Amino acid sequence: MPALIIVGAQWGDEGKGKLVDYLTANADYVVRFQGGSNAGHTLVVDGKKTKLSLVPSGILRPQTTCIVAAGVVVDPQTLMDEIESLKKAGIKVSSDRLKIDERAELVLEYHRALDRAREQSRGEAKIGTTGRGIGPAYEDRAGRVGVRFGELRQLEILKTKIKSNIEVKNKMLANVYSSDEEVKFEDVWSMIEKTASNLLAYVDDTSLVVHEAAQKHKKIVFEGAQGTLLDTTFGTTPFVTSSSTIAGGVLTGCGIGAKDTGPVLGVAKAYATRVGAGPFPTELHDATGDKIREQGAEFGTVTGRPRRCGWFDAVAMKYAVRLSGIDSLAVTKLDVLAGLPEVKICYRYKLNGKEISNFPSLNADLEKVEPEYVTFEGWDNSILQAKKWYQLPTSARLFLDTLGEIIGCPISIASVGADRESTIFSSNAATIRSFAA
Ligand code: IMP
Repeated sequence: MPALIIVGAQWGDEGKGKLVDYLTANADYVVRFQGGSNAGHTLVVDGKKTKLSLVPSGILRPQTTCIVAAGVVVDPQTLMDEIESLKKAGIKVSSDRLKIDERAELVLEYHRALDRAREQSRGEAKIGTTGRGIGPAYEDRAGRVGVRFGELRQLEILKTKIKSNIEVKNKMLANVYSSDEEVKFEDVWSMIEKTASNLLAYVDDTSLVVHEAAQKHKKIVFEGAQGTLLDTTFGTTPFVTSSSTIAGGVLTGCGIGAKDTGPVLGVAKAYATRVGAGPFPTELHDATGDKIREQGAEFGTVTGRPRRCGWFDAVAMKYAVRLSGIDSLAVTKLDVLAGLPEVKICYRYKLNGKEISNFPSLNADLEKVEPEYVTFEGWDNSILQAKKWYQLPTSARLFLDTLGEIIGCPISIASVGADRESTIFSSNAATIRSFAA
């Protein structure tokens, strides 16, 4: 099956961008199926950094068509800025290389205003959203008042809808959230007109495009954003994003059937991080956590916030493997742990004195669980030189073998640096390998 689904298996920021970039060497299509500009992917090619949040990472590969599917909520200004900066960097971005689905929804000023006002009104209980209007935009889809890209083709009809939306949102801002912000129709409308003239050329029925590509056995990579534990249904609600981040999201986000997809590659860091509030059983509140943050440059790509850091949580990972049917796992940032005297994996929780190995659904339970660890000897900087599996330090190999055994899923890739070259395949990587150069 020439299609591959790549999903984050933790709380986002697992290094998916690098993997997608690496595994799109031979891809014909790269498809984003959920999320919006809350995502941030940093790609490093030949030492040069490119930051993307809406354009699929495959854009750096000249043969790839990049698709922003219907499941994505698109902030049009952010997308226009990304296209501009890619063009400035000499990357070709044309309507045959980038396609936006006509059913994808726009994130508008009133969504961002509501996101801000709501977080503010929550006080101490705030979620710590990225403030990009993601939640309110998905609410509008569920509430049947969202604005879809295809509607930019009928501006006169859209005008009435926008006016009515703004009236309702301003009432919410003032009366529910006591916000001083008032969204002006003129501002939203000028963004709509600008979007129509700049982005309509890219708009297409991508459900059809992807389906036809799958029928022709084209190589397709589905690129997930955020991570499993931020899934709107199966994550640590309410501290989650508002889209379906698991592999199931590919079907609903792209409007295709299961037979148009393929195996699932989960991506996880060799440790765990989380941005924003919410339960995090293996979080480290000590110097080791600080060291991981510093060595791993664990600061948000989108908001710059310091990420919370902790040990690898195999209980949460088993849950992620089950939810997405993960066939194999890529473990990233192994190099970040170099120099630590010991490294740990949480293999089980204790809850109210009982051993549990299933991820609880209630945050109150997750706040109480006591992680139990298996401890490994650390490894040194020689890991940076490893190009083959057998060149990984013995303790790092033991760490990966044990991890695979605990979660019941093979480890196919180890990443030991930000560059494409620092990506090592295991003997379990037969299917995945065909996607790389
Ligand atoms: P929202 O997606 O902006 O509504 O934020 C909801 C939660 O998801 C917050 O805890 C964010 O920090 C988190 N989040 C959203 N996008 C990302 C991401 O790309 N990486 C990591 N965390 C994210």
